[in-house]
Amino acid sequence: MPTAIIIGVGPSAGLGATLCRHSAQVGLHVFAGGRTPTQLEQTQREIEATGGNCTPVVTDVTEEEQVQALIELAEQSGQIELAIYNAGNNYSGNFLEMEVSLFEQAWRVGTLGGFLFAREVLRRMAPRNRGTLIFTGASASLRGKPGFVPFTAAKAGLRAMSQSLAREFQPQGIHIAHVVIDGIINGDRIHNRAPALVEQLGEQGMLQLDDIASAYLFLHSQPRSAWTHELDLRTFCENF
Ligand SMILES: NC(=O)c1ccc[n+]([C@@H]2O[C@H](COP(=O)([O-])OP(=O)(O)OC[C@H]3O[C@@H](n4cnc5c(N)ncnc54)[C@H](OP(=O)(O)O)[C@@H]3O)[C@@H](O)[C@H]2O)c1
Repeated sequence: MPTAIIIGVGPSAGLGATLCRHSAQVGLHVFAGGRTPTQLEQTQREIEATGGNCTPVVTDVTEEEQVQALIELAEQSGQIELAIYNAGNNYSGNFLEMEVSLFEQAWRVGTLGGFLFAREVLRRMAPRNRGTLIFTGASASLRGKPGFVPFTAAKAGLRAMSQSLAREFQPQGIHIAHVVIDGIINGDRIHNRAPALVEQLGEQGMLQLDDIASAYLFLHSQPRSAWTHELDLRTFCENF
């Protein structure tokens, strides 16, 4: 059975878990990577309840050996057809008082992890000239807002890397895409951290999880004569 690897899988109402469910629906055996076992197991239960296959693998994307082990496990099970780098936390703070460690942590999760993941995935995909590799971006991938230096630097770096990889590996038959999520996702993160903002935006002011995941699976289904490298997603009422 061909496999999909999604790294950066958190709560059920989050993008990583939603991408796992959508990937399972198209017949891929999903390898779900994240740091919290209970959340990964919840995704496994949800996928298995609908007849799909999911293997949870506790993985920190900033740890080279853990990323290598995840990808090797998936590849041993079946050819990796789809790989999605979804990890990324929104680091911000007062710049003048910012510790180096905060900036470095944002870079480790947002950029270095993307490098480790992409390198291991492409080592498997390139020899067979086949596969899709997608990176999750944010508004910060394109523009820096005040207070968000670490997150912006990390996401812009990830985007730049995805372009470089696309130019190197698309001619070898690997579809590489970067998705700019330009707005707030209607998921656990915002409901837990900023319920007042949820109230203010309302349902229609946030991107819906299933709609985002459908766009990723559309990218994966594109024929090689018409590949998208970058897709930007926002609600109809977002200013941009
Ligand atoms: N939420 C938004 O409004 C929004 C907007 C624009 C873009 N985005 C982007 O969309 C992506 C997903 O965001 P989301 O809010 O929906 O979160 P999510 O997909 O529900 O969860 C992402 C998960 O990644 C995991 N993660 C973080 N650091 C990790 C690490 N070092 N190794 C492995 N896993 C790690 C975290 O789970 P554990 O802590 O359990 O490991 C986190 O829950 C991110 O790249 C984010 O930047 C989000």
